[in-house]
Amino acid sequence: MTEKKSFYITTPIYYPSGKLHIGNATTTIACDVLARYKRLMGYDTFYLTGLDEHGQKIQTKAEEAGMTPQAYVDGMAVGVKELWKKLDISYDKFIRTTDDYHESVVADVFEKLLAQGDIYLGEYSGWYSVSDEEFFTESQLTEVFRDENGEVIGGIAPSGHQVELVSEESYFFKLSKYQKHLEAFFKAYPDFISPSSRMNEMIKNFIEPGLEDLAVSRTTFTWGVPIKSNPKHVVYVWIDALLNYATALGYGQGDTTKFEKFWTGQTEVKSWTDESGKVWDFKIASSVNHMVAKDILRFHSIYWPIILMALDLPLPNRLIAHGWFVMQDGKMSKSKGNVVYPEMLVERFGLDPLRYYLMRSLPVGSDGTFTPEDYVGRINYELANDLGNLLNRTVAMINKYFDGQVPNLSTGSTEFDEDLQAVAGQAIADYHKYMDLVDYPRALDAVWSLIARTNKYIDETAPWVLAKDEAQKDNLASVMAHLAESLRVVANLIAPFMMTTANAITEQLGLGAIASIENLTFGQFPEGVRVVAKGTPIFPRLDMDEEIAYIKEQMAAGKSAAEKEWAPEEVELTLNKPEIKFEEFEKTEIRVAEVIDCQKVEGSDKLLLFRLDAGDAEHRQILSGIANFYPNPEELIGLKVQIVANLKPRKMMKKYVSQGMILSAEHDANLTLLTVDSSVPNGSVIG
Ligand code: ME8
Ligand code: MG
Repeated sequence: MTEKKSFYITTPIYYPSGKLHIGNATTTIACDVLARYKRLMGYDTFYLTGLDEHGQKIQTKAEEAGMTPQAYVDGMAVGVKELWKKLDISYDKFIRTTDDYHESVVADVFEKLLAQGDIYLGEYSGWYSVSDEEFFTESQLTEVFRDENGEVIGGIAPSGHQVELVSEESYFFKLSKYQKHLEAFFKAYPDFISPSSRMNEMIKNFIEPGLEDLAVSRTTFTWGVPIKSNPKHVVYVWIDALLNYATALGYGQGDTTKFEKFWTGQTEVKSWTDESGKVWDFKIASSVNHMVAKDILRFHSIYWPIILMALDLPLPNRLIAHGWFVMQDGKMSKSKGNVVYPEMLVERFGLDPLRYYLMRSLPVGSDGTFTPEDYVGRINYELANDLGNLLNRTVAMINKYFDGQVPNLSTGSTEFDEDLQAVAGQAIADYHKYMDLVDYPRALDAVWSLIARTNKYIDETAPWVLAKDEAQKDNLASVMAHLAESLRVVANLIAPFMMTTANAITEQLGLGAIASIENLTFGQFPEGVRVVAKGTPIFPRLDMDEEIAYIKEQMAAGKSAAEKEWAPEEVELTLNKPEIKFEEFEKTEIRVAEVIDCQKVEGSDKLLLFRLDAGDAEHRQILSGIANFYPNPEELIGLKVQIVANLKPRKMMKKYVSQGMILSAEHDANLTLLTVDSSVPNGSVIG
């Protein structure tokens, strides 16, 4: 007996810093589909998921909840496991980075890398986003904030989260040492990242500009794996987290059977010859597959291979990166009232529709939009109508015309049989092709093309007409046999996505549970099978308007729950600038000032020159770049506005000194000066 091929699939280990939503569920279901597919294809499969429980973000969340970090993550882990149970996730192991075996290997690996010189001690100063647990260089920030001297004082990370300046003693990983290795690896193995467009993104954004050494320890908080040789440092959460993929299989521990089976046991070499004629060989672990979304591709495509190279371990076979599900009004957020939690959809519509919807709409190369209309529409049209109805009609007709006995495929024939078989053959081939590419929308399109063809086959053959003619009995038998066989094929193909539905179909057809789809072809329906006497619909037909309204209500209820729970420290603020201390704000002197004169500045389209009574001994002068919004400056005379009075005077247009700043509100493409009631005396202090 030959040994089974092994297949290892991992999800990201999620941060348990909040309730998981349909975004996290998407990746976990996508990996579950892959794991089930590979099992049905005869692979010895290991499916890993888990939680990323260390780091500053978790420590802060626990503090806010008034709990120890350990108690906090313990509670969250229970909830996450419950969710995966509800979603029928067939994981083989659930790793938590607070598990002892994991922590101990992380500490050992750190020492090893330190001893071999890949990690060194230095000083770090950089922009840190706690939400992303990630450092950014100034050039990576999508927006930077400067003080009056032009010094950068903060900024916004690409994720939209704020960054803060962090300066501390830190260990560094010599990523720069591996720059060439990584470039060569990408050349030797262009299929590493799927889809390949995402590899180009990584090369352009991170590899071509040159890799910078990575800060891999922190001293400003304690919730992490302490560094053995210098315990005031904890290991950077991403190094800790990425290693889970290896520690979960026993890497660095006593029993390494699993690690050998699913990592080092099946390898192949990919080579590339560089310009100088040097040959680069890379050992690939053919069983190892990671799935992530685009937000964390950088960690998995750059840091992770480098860590593995430093540890002299085979590199992953594939990194599957999908896009994001977004809402019609952008990213999901509680306060917007557009978050969708999987539990609600499962309770209302059942599990299989959720798994089907997410996988059929899975964003592959770009983002996808979740809409309630789409959700209910797909259940009604594709599941209830196209598939459910086909099963109902087939079972009912076999009962009616053949007393429940499924006829043989070869009994008679119709002129449409051949085409149906051809479409089924094509659907099976396309399905496997796209399953291998983890392009589920296309794999399911292939299945639905067979469903559509089969529905059309009923219209074409018109069994109710054949049934009226005794001479057509054999041909009617052929039609029934083809319908049953088509449904059997469909059931097998959808099994990784919707196990319950797949088995409900085979059960109604009188067949056993699906155990393998390895050798699936059209034409294998066993003889002597009886369908059930009365088929029950596998999907409910929904009232579209009512159900769309229901989902929307639930999303809004999430919003009102968020409002009810309102407590300032629990709300994630959407700031445009870094947070400041009260003492910092207090340094700003804002005053009421009356516009005494206002005119256009010669030689400038933008500037207006204001003379103001701000309660100073004399009138002050301020230049403001708002001429576009106030074409008739004289109309402003007499208004009372708000000014920043203690801003350092600035020379503008060579000859004017501007002594302060007039406050205005920007909205869309417009701007409005902030005025105050005329009864407020000039010079009144605002604060
Ligand atoms: O990044 N659409 O954890 P995380 C699709 N702990 N997928 C989404 C999604 C969306 N809108 N939102 C989240 C971390 N995801 C680290 C990982 S791994 C060694 C450490 C999924 O909780 C997607 O898979 O922020 C994304 O990559 C992941 O959740 C991020 O999860
Ligand atoms: Mg994230």
